[in-house]
Amino acid sequence: MMDRRERLIDRAREGFQLVYGTEPTHFFAAPGRVNLIGEHVDYNAGYVLPCAIDRETIVALGAGEGNLFEATALDMAEMGSARDDFSLDAPIVRADQNWRNHVRGVVHALAGRGHRLKPARIAIASDVPIGVGLSSSAALGVAVALACAEHSGLNLSPDVLAKVAQAAENDFVGCACGIMDQMASASSTAGHALLLDCRSLEHMPIPIHESLVITVINTGLRRELTGSAFNLRRAECKAAARHYGVAALRDLSPEALERARGWLDDVHFARARHVVSEIARVEPVALALAQGDSAVLAALLAEAHRSLADDFDVSLPPIDRLVGLVAEALGTAGGVRLTGAGFGGCLVAVADRTASWAIDDAVARYNTTASLPASSNSFAPAKGAAPIVFQ
Ligand code: GLA
Repeated sequence: MMDRRERLIDRAREGFQLVYGTEPTHFFAAPGRVNLIGEHVDYNAGYVLPCAIDRETIVALGAGEGNLFEATALDMAEMGSARDDFSLDAPIVRADQNWRNHVRGVVHALAGRGHRLKPARIAIASDVPIGVGLSSSAALGVAVALACAEHSGLNLSPDVLAKVAQAAENDFVGCACGIMDQMASASSTAGHALLLDCRSLEHMPIPIHESLVITVINTGLRRELTGSAFNLRRAECKAAARHYGVAALRDLSPEALERARGWLDDVHFARARHVVSEIARVEPVALALAQGDSAVLAALLAEAHRSLADDFDVSLPPIDRLVGLVAEALGTAGGVRLTGAGFGGCLVAVADRTASWAIDDAVARYNTTASLPASSNSFAPAKGAAPIVFQ
């Protein structure tokens, strides 16, 4: 029996053969992620704790011809025009579909760093669900960056791969995302979450206690990250930082938040309060995760969700209801909150292994009255981006 990854690699290989009529020579992988704590903190230069998951993007690669870069997105086929090609000798311009812009943006960012890329053909297959807050975009960007770099003999560190993938999203896709997702995809260690300082990019793997399990609950509500809401939140945080005279909200202490409020309006104050309080939760959550302290996780994740919903205003009424049901079912056996950018997407629960049934039970109860059904799934904490070597 083929496992999940083998099936995905097979799909990438077959797709490659079908489209280009030759065999790919190399495969590269980069995972999606779920964020455990530190939401909307990365672009405020603070600490975050994402965890790579065992869902990933595979890039099958073979040498290209002439000066051409050719790409095929195998999962976009039903949407039509899943192919793209462009010359590596001409300026790279934006295209009309997001996936193309991720690919073009990566090549553009690498060229911008002075790297000369070899012509290539790639076929992309992924089992990271799209548009639910599990960073399918980061997995795509990092996998393509890794594939391009390795094929062209560049020895790029995970930090650089992450920055290249982020630049693609910022400059080509038009999403002002931070660096968390790409770093989680590029730098994670299997079995661990990643404690990341988004200013220095220093990071440290945090072991996940064996008594705990991470469950992702898909609310079924889709979100569009490039939508203006995300960029608006980012702008609000920037304005709040400017008001307080700090380089980023990470530099604002809880005391200064209140003391120096001055004429700051309620909305900007609330945004800043979320970021400052959320950063303070990251280290204790990391500790509780390593120690298997589910009661502390229950309390901190509940606080985090309230802050995201009330102060950062990125939740929705059905999400709050589902969070409430799961939290009640778990009690002190674990915590649950909205994860990712928000406005739909997924919840993350970190709970005692023995309490998984309580999550399923709460989701089933929610579904009896929900207009869109939610579903839960447990993920193993995965390793970051890597070339796949075949025997
Ligand atoms: C999205 C962005 C990240 C981060 C999160 C919110 O996933 O891509 O950079 O800002 O939202 O924490």
